[in-house]
This record gives sequence, C-alpha cells and structure tokens, in this order.
Amino acid sequence: MVDGMDVAHEMVLWKVEPQCSISEADDFERLSRLLDRPRVKIERKLSFDERSLSELSVTGNLRPVDSYDSLCSPGAGRSVLDTPVSLSRNSFEPHPMVGEAWDALRRSIVFFRGQPVGTIAAIDHASEEVLNYDQVFVRDFVPSAMAFLMNGEPDIVKNFLLKTLHLQSWEKRIDRFKLGEGVMPASFKVNHDPVRKTDTLMADFGESAIGRVAPVDSGFWWIILLRAYTKSTGDLSLAETPECQKGIRLILSLCLSEGFDTFPTLLCADGCSMIDRRMGVYGYPIEIQALFFMALRCALAMLKPDVEGKEFTERILTRLNALGYHMRSYFWLDFQQLNDIYRYKTEEYSHTAVNKFNVIPDSIPDWIFDFMPSRGGYFVGNVSPAKMDFRWFALGNCIAILSSLATPEQSVAIMDLIEERWEELVGVMPLKISYPALEGHEWSIVTGCDPKNTRWSYHNGGSWPVLLWLLTAACIKTGRPQIARRAIELAESRLWKDGWPEYYDGKLGRYIGKQARKFQTWSIAGYLVSKMMLEDPSHLGMISLEEDKVKKPLIRRSASWTA
Ligand code: GLC
Repeated sequence: MVDGMDVAHEMVLWKVEPQCSISEADDFERLSRLLDRPRVKIERKLSFDERSLSELSVTGNLRPVDSYDSLCSPGAGRSVLDTPVSLSRNSFEPHPMVGEAWDALRRSIVFFRGQPVGTIAAIDHASEEVLNYDQVFVRDFVPSAMAFLMNGEPDIVKNFLLKTLHLQSWEKRIDRFKLGEGVMPASFKVNHDPVRKTDTLMADFGESAIGRVAPVDSGFWWIILLRAYTKSTGDLSLAETPECQKGIRLILSLCLSEGFDTFPTLLCADGCSMIDRRMGVYGYPIEIQALFFMALRCALAMLKPDVEGKEFTERILTRLNALGYHMRSYFWLDFQQLNDIYRYKTEEYSHTAVNKFNVIPDSIPDWIFDFMPSRGGYFVGNVSPAKMDFRWFALGNCIAILSSLATPEQSVAIMDLIEERWEELVGVMPLKISYPALEGHEWSIVTGCDPKNTRWSYHNGGSWPVLLWLLTAACIKTGRPQIARRAIELAESRLWKDGWPEYYDGKLGRYIGKQARKFQTWSIAGYLVSKMMLEDPSHLGMISLEEDKVKKPLIRRSASWTA
C-alpha cells in the first residue's frame, strides 16, 4: 500500500528531476517502478500538495515561505557519496523506530494543571545525576514542537508558547542584578505537590544554570516557534494577541538596543546557547547570529503594523540589512577566501583596509588548510578583532541555510562541504556539533579544563543526533534530499538500539557519549521530524524562509557595500 505520505516523499525527486544527476534520476525511475504507479498520478498528487501548501500558508502580513522552486536549487541533484542510497520497498514502510519514537516522545510530555506544556529533556532512569534534565528546555522543545505540529497536534505547542511567555514577565535576578525584561528562560520545571494537589512552576533564566549564563537563543527560538505554529495551523490569532506582540518586542528590544557596537552582530558570553558551557564561542558565535537573523525575519512577518509594530519593523529591516551583509562578507570562508586571508597584510589603518579585522595569517590553524575542499564553504564560528574562529558549527550553518542568511550559492557550498567532508562532519552518526575538537593545551585554556568537554566529546567535537532534523531541513531546502536520507539511515542503524543517546563521542561518532543521557527527548523528536519532513517536504515551510528578494537592492545600495 502506498499512502499519501509515500507519494509526498516522491515529490522531491519528481520536482528536482530536470536538474538531477544520473543517480537521482535513476532513483526516480526505480521508485516509480517500485511504486508501480504511472508518473502522472504522482504529478496529480504533487499539484494537490502544492495547493494545500499554499492554502496552509498564512496570508496577511506573513511573508511567503519556501516554494517548491527552492527544492530545485542550482546544487540540486548532486550525488552524495559514491555508494548509492539504498532503495527498497522497505524504505516506504514506516521504520519500526518511528512507532517507538512516538511512544517515547509521548512519555516525555510534561503537564501543568492537566494541560500538556512541553517535553522533559531526558527520561534516563539509569542516570544517577538528574541535574536539570528533568526540565522543559526551550531549545530542546523545538523539535518536539515541530513533530507535534507536523502530526496535527498544535495544542501542546500553543500551551508551551503561552506558558513561556508568562514566565518572561517574571522578575529575574542574579544576586543583586536584575536581568532584562525580555529574557526568556532556558528551561522550566513543573513541581507537582501530590498532597495539596497543586502544580507550580520554577524557571531558570541563567541564575541556576552552570556558569550562570542567560540563554540568548531561547527568545529567538520562541519567536521562530511562534511563526512555525502560525504557519502550520493558519491560526494568526495567537501571534496577534497583545501579549505575544509584546513578547516579541521585548525579546527584540534586548538585541536591537544601541550601545558601543561597531558591528551588527550580537555580542555574547560563552555558553549562552545550545553549547551551554565554556567552549571559546564568546564574542559573535555563528549559532546566535544565524538564530538572530532568523528570529528577526520571523518577527517581521508577525508584528502587527500598529505604531509600536511599525517602529520595530523599521529597526528590524535596518538591522537585517546590515547583519546579512556583515555575515555574508566576513563570516564566509571557502577556498578562495582562505587563500586571501592567508595572504592578508596586517596593521592596515583607515576605511581602505582589506583585512578589516586585522586577522594575523599566522593565527590560521593548520587543520583548515587540509580540511578546506576546493568545492564548498561555510560560515566560520566567530569573527571579531584579530580573532577568527575557523571551527565549523553545525547548528549555525543549517540555520543560515534555512533563514536564507546564506545566499543560494553559499547554501549550495555548505551542502557541498558536508558532502566533501562527510567522514569528518557526519562519520557514523550525524551530526558533529563542532569541528575539529580542541585538544591538549588549547582544550585546557579554552574550555577551562572542562572534563565533560574533552576532545571529541559533548560540545567539543561530539556528534548530536538532534541536529539531524536541521540537516534534513537544509537538505530539502537545497534540493538534496539524498544527503538527508543517507544521514537518517546512519541514525537508524544505531539510535534506537543505543537508547536514543544525547550525543556520541569520537572522531567518527562511534561511541555513545561518555556522560550522554539516554532517552534524550530531542534525539527522539529530531529523528521523527527528519522522517516526516522527508516524507512530506511541504513541512519545510514551518522552519524555512525564502530569500527575501525585495530587500536585495537595499543591500547593494548600503554604505558598507560601496566602502
Ligand atoms: C545540555 C545541552 C543543552 C541542552 C541541555 C538539555 O546542557 O548542552 O543544549 O539544552 O543539555 O538537554
């Protein structure tokens, strides 16, 4: 039996066919034969899905999201690796892991006064230390939310958005210092009192977190999720409530305020995002810059054009213009750019400087010369005066593709890099959170001798299954679903058997992480979201934004462009 989802799965191949490589066109032929259906049927289904996608897309002041055209990007159809993707009839039957994953995801649901409000970070009964893994983390809930939305269960997402919005209004203090009004919590916990039969909430805005860092990413994820909810349900009424509008403005006020900045990027402390421990990402980490860009674009689509909304819209547009220019110009690294930096002159004064940040070529690490392929590129980890962190960070690069912070050419190049450096960045378990690992003296200086972040473990070059959903989304957006399929196959060979670990260790990601939690919810949800997106690529619209063609000329006219 071929159900609707299976045919939807086909759509990608059908649509990309004109620019497909032989192997992908072959895939299509084989799939057609396997399905034993004439192509015309698939096409009819496709037009239905396209129609339903446009029906789903919210009108009003929301911007359009990805059309299927973007599935046919210039890089579409390049073959991933030499080995062909295995295609058998089995690939159309739900993998047994899918049912297991749904059961585990449902077991992780947290209730507040009878209402589902989120999912717990991990349910690892074997782990001695619970720490804060019994809480609902904002960032961890995003893939869970996507899974529920894709499955037509938006209520838990709505409850979560409202509950966290309520927490935002709490007064937040660390010792005698009061945090900004707009800060969203990293996590919250529901305490059930079985005697009094009451539920109470406890939130952590960084005042309890190890290292005491406020989560900069939480607010951005909240905005991104609000748009995903709106996009998926077509229900504009939630985003349009005065409370949500205020919530968006408060988050943005924290990031758009004027100060001593000379760059449009956001200055951050170490440990303020998914990498929530010291890893030398302080400054202008790519993860935050990409999420910032995406949240700004999502907010733009949701802010009402009233007086306050209009004022913010203008500030957002100005910032997006500058941020996009800065990131695409200075964070981008490919073979050509690396060669240019290698030959940089230093100590250049005045606006004519080529080496604007005074990067000293001697500071380029040795590994990058071998790692950089002739085909491909990526956004580096960080750029600030005389400091360029050349490390690869997966989340920021995937979000750059999804938010269209990356130009179409840059998006293709990022996917090319993943293909070219498959062993290093994917290995046997997708996907490396960062590459390469810090070792020896560098590890002790940069991480502060963090025993959890030893080389090729945890945040320091570990492999995180949760990143699979972002990789899959990026693959679909760039028209290269075969890369996602290969990554999912790898995950399927281990994840369930290993008990859904939080992360894997080792250069190739062969070992279950030293201190990894089992039954880590976002590893489970990330897998489900990847499967659902690949089966029905129209889900991509929830997490992807098309290139904003309207704003392009503005970028060209900007002062920094001509400088
Ligand atoms: C770890 C991760 C963090 C995650 C948390 C809960 O601290 O670094 O990103 O949110 O666990 O899973």
